[in-house]
Amino acid sequence: MLQQAGYQTVVIDNLSRGSRSNVVRGEFAEGDIGDSAFLDRLFAQYSFSAVMHFAALIDVGESIQKPDLYYVNNVSRTLTLLQTMLRHGVTTFIFSSTAAVYGLPLKPTIDEAHPCNPINPYGESKLIVEKMLSDLGQAYGLKFCALRYFNAAGGDPEGEIKNRRAKDSNLIPLALRSLLEPAGKVKIFGTDYPTRDGTCVRDYIHVSDLGRAHITALENLLSGSPSCCYNLGNGEGFTVREVLQTIEKVTGRRLNIEESARRPGDPPVLVANAALAQKALNWRPRYPNLDSMIEHAWLALDYC
Ligand SMILES: NC(=O)c1ccc[n+]([C@@H]2O[C@H](COP(=O)([O-])OP(=O)(O)OC[C@H]3O[C@@H](n4cnc5c(N)ncnc54)[C@H](O)[C@@H]3O)[C@@H](O)[C@H]2O)c1
Repeated sequence: MLQQAGYQTVVIDNLSRGSRSNVVRGEFAEGDIGDSAFLDRLFAQYSFSAVMHFAALIDVGESIQKPDLYYVNNVSRTLTLLQTMLRHGVTTFIFSSTAAVYGLPLKPTIDEAHPCNPINPYGESKLIVEKMLSDLGQAYGLKFCALRYFNAAGGDPEGEIKNRRAKDSNLIPLALRSLLEPAGKVKIFGTDYPTRDGTCVRDYIHVSDLGRAHITALENLLSGSPSCCYNLGNGEGFTVREVLQTIEKVTGRRLNIEESARRPGDPPVLVANAALAQKALNWRPRYPNLDSMIEHAWLALDYC
């Protein structure tokens, strides 16, 4: 999207979880954001105006089993990236944060003033980075925008970029993949929640809508807006059953659904209040409905 908006880009990825073939435009440099010698070479070679930082480990379950891995990768290596930027005079930074920084919601709809009490090392690692950003801003004039995504969903509407993950942890790709596997099934955790059909309600936001918000956040910072932190969500929640029914409608295939008990720590309803982002970024989701999110996620998987 940056390329399409006229920017030149260099994508850095260590390919630990990503795929080279998904960098369809711009330049690519294989390496780790914790490798300061590698970063120094790149920052000397290019004259970057900003960094957008998406690189992270993102599996909540894994973060509980291997918290050290998450603190090293998501916190310590991010600090190396930030120090390198500042050494090279680059002070504009967009950060992929997450709704996981809030922890258990005190109310169903969450705005940015909601207390942040993450309940897993993944969410904690993102909150620590947000705190680092604020401190580096005070001390060295770093300008940043932390974007707290709710559940990223959908896929490239053109179908050019594929979901090549070895393992998915989000409901939509997990359910779609189950359609491609012999004897594949999808589990519903809890059918007795106080919601319209007994299953959990979550906020799904299309990756293209996330992308558009990033570009506006970048342009605002470059034109002098102060550092900021915004929720990025649809503002509307869908139940697990609604997601699964829409998957069956869009794909024309029957899911093998297994109903099981609630998982500890899953709140009944988790939906973003994204009013701040809507106002500051003049942003509204273009793909707020489940049908297009699922169509595009299916397109990203269908021809793997
Ligand atoms: N997917 C979601 O629902 C969601 C929700 C909220 C926030 N986020 C955040 O959005 C960002 C992108 O998430 P995603 O779903 O695209 O994840 P992803 O795993 O598909 O992409 C992360 C990429 O970072 C790379 N990476 C990880 N550590 C690295 C390192 N040390 N050096 C270089 N590259 C490294 C991986 O190889 C991978 O390609 C992450 O920061 C994540 O925390 C995602």
